[in-house]
Amino acid sequence: MTDPRPIGLFDSGVGGLTVLDAVARRLPSEDLLYLGDTARLPYGTKSRETVRRYALRAVSLLLERDVKALVVACNTATALALDAIRDRSPVPVLGVVEPGAEAAVEAARETDPEQGPGLPVAVLATEATVASDAYGQAIRRLDPGRRVLHVACPLFVPLAEEGWTDNEVAWATAALYLAPVAASGSRVVVLGCTHYPLLKGTIAAALPPGTLLVDSAESTARALAALLAPESRKDVSKRGETHLLVTDSSERLRRVAARFLGREAAALELVDLP
Ligand code: DGL
Repeated sequence: MTDPRPIGLFDSGVGGLTVLDAVARRLPSEDLLYLGDTARLPYGTKSRETVRRYALRAVSLLLERDVKALVVACNTATALALDAIRDRSPVPVLGVVEPGAEAAVEAARETDPEQGPGLPVAVLATEATVASDAYGQAIRRLDPGRRVLHVACPLFVPLAEEGWTDNEVAWATAALYLAPVAASGSRVVVLGCTHYPLLKGTIAAALPPGTLLVDSAESTARALAALLAPESRKDVSKRGETHLLVTDSSERLRRVAARFLGREAAALELVDLP
């Protein structure tokens, strides 16, 4: 038995396309239905109540379209609303925080000195994700006693969207945000926001050589593959299709989406959230 229904992915905008891409590479025969709530972006500067309300509205649209699993491909929505989404969803729900935390703990254990306390894990994220301490809680659940240093890097979001990922502005911003990370001795840094992988090179250059950057897109795709039971997979003989839904569409959005995907985005279907 196989299940032909699509997998639903949701993000506040097009940043989650980094997660979509990782899922498409790991599960190439699955159909993917992606919703970017571009009309309400950014979520990372908003309150918990607002993010929860927006996120619940968005996932109900994906559930109406009969998805067989949900991936909350937005760090902020995962951090602030995963519990509420899980409560209301009849299908399995996966967020990006736990897979990212698992990968970070694994990496941190490998880089710990033989003696003395373990080094802190640094988490770079939006202000809302930092305030929620979702990464800190997930990391400490797996590795009690592990110190977690959170750094909010809100300007990385517009820089990534503008394509200013490797110029004087990006370098200066990274140097200012990341000085406390370098000073903390941390050697494992979580890119806890969908946009930050686009600045990977600049972030790495602002940190001591050898610092490991954890990108939760890859670990989320791996966790999704493990979550889908064999009977929940689609027939593997056909290549999966990807369908992109957005709540606001513009020429700029197309440009930004192409930046995240690394290629021209397929047709974007405009939807309205009631
Ligand atoms: N998708 C958000 C995240 O991963 C970043 C953009 C936003 O603030 O909405 O946290």
